[in-house]
Amino acid sequence: MTTYPETGRLSAPAESPLVIKNVRLYGEGEPTDVVVKDGIIAAIGNTAEAEDAQVIDGQGNVLLPGLVDMHVHLREPGREDTETIETGSKAAAKGGFTAVFTMANTNPVTDQPIIAESVWAKSQALALCDVHPVGSITKGLEGKTLTEFGMMARSDAKVRMFSDDGKCVQDPQLMRRALEYAKGMDVLLAQHAEDDRMTGGASAHEGETAAKLGLRGWPRVAEESIVARDALLARDYGNRVHICHASTQGTVELLKWAKEQDIPLTAEVTPHHLLMTDDKLRTYDGLFRVNPPLREQRDTEALREALLNGTIDCVATDHAPHGSEDKCVEFENARPGMLGLESSLAVIAKIFVETGLADWRFVARVMSERPAEITRLPGHGRPIAEGEPANLTIVDPDHHWVSDSAKLASKSENNPYAGEEFGARVTHTILRGAVTFDLAASEED
Ligand code: DOR
Ligand code: ZN
Repeated sequence: MTTYPETGRLSAPAESPLVIKNVRLYGEGEPTDVVVKDGIIAAIGNTAEAEDAQVIDGQGNVLLPGLVDMHVHLREPGREDTETIETGSKAAAKGGFTAVFTMANTNPVTDQPIIAESVWAKSQALALCDVHPVGSITKGLEGKTLTEFGMMARSDAKVRMFSDDGKCVQDPQLMRRALEYAKGMDVLLAQHAEDDRMTGGASAHEGETAAKLGLRGWPRVAEESIVARDALLARDYGNRVHICHASTQGTVELLKWAKEQDIPLTAEVTPHHLLMTDDKLRTYDGLFRVNPPLREQRDTEALREALLNGTIDCVATDHAPHGSEDKCVEFENARPGMLGLESSLAVIAKIFVETGLADWRFVARVMSERPAEITRLPGHGRPIAEGEPANLTIVDPDHHWVSDSAKLASKSENNPYAGEEFGARVTHTILRGAVTFDLAASEED
């Protein structure tokens, strides 16, 4: 077992050395080799192989720091029929992730150390991906009483993020108290911004499409009013707030304002809000019901621009597995949420890299470095350099593939990209020097 400060015990690094041949660091420059020993990058350059080394032929592909997803739902405990720590970790490794944060809206809710510790211990025994449990802000997600942040932060799970995600902390006074408490503990609060007095019964974005389809709408202001409120709370009570799944143009404007005032407000955006609009709802397919809802073109454009210029800090999938009994039903009865872990790198490459809007450095920043910084997660999102932990992802930037829901590692099939073509693919994921995903060795390639 190794220990990073404030991370707790971790699964052991790979025993045998690993040589990754022929990779382009961040997709830049000439291909080179990376030698890994004891889970650490020991050398970069054309170096002699150790006799017992495992060798990966990188074929000139792109080497990135292991991806970090600060927002997933792995459904254990409670809905192991839809996803478990094990299947979710496999999906994460397949998507290029070396660390994920799993939200607290499980059953029972992750509002006590024992639940968080069990999630963390399972993930370390599996050694496929570091699964960090998020603690809930309020007991039972009921929005009434704060949980014991300190006990969860000091537990073996070292909980560093708290969120009632799935629900918003509605009461501003309680949110203020949470901020003051979190400040003392130096933990992050992540807000699902939704004033539920404005979204009762809504299943779609409030706009032309919802009106035509006869669906009740979820207006932008329900998100934006909470973002504005929490920005002001962060300003006045001096602690960090992170906005989950930013989805509107107005949220982008508020984030820009907050950053100009040096308010410690950060935000993530999902691949689905970057790629799709409420136009997808025309078939009434429950697959496309998600919370917050898919919005309009002007929102998508504002979100893309904000990610490019840093107003939005990072990408997070909000991977939300659901069984067919909850998805293959009337739109309004479908549970909100879609899968994301196995497709997110390809979606981001499609929008930003394949169009020439950004490069692989940008992908490393928004999918690895920034989420690790925001969560203050040691060992991940680090530079690819000698002496750094070997948490790495190899991407083939020219691998054409079609998303197929029957081939997912996830236990659920609510994949909004079924049949969609992509041009980039994760070929290997490496956690502390151990290969946790190898595309050629998997049944899919
Ligand atoms: O679409 C969503 N699904 N949004 C959320 O906030 C929660 C999530 C879930 O848990 O299924
Ligand atoms: Zn979520």
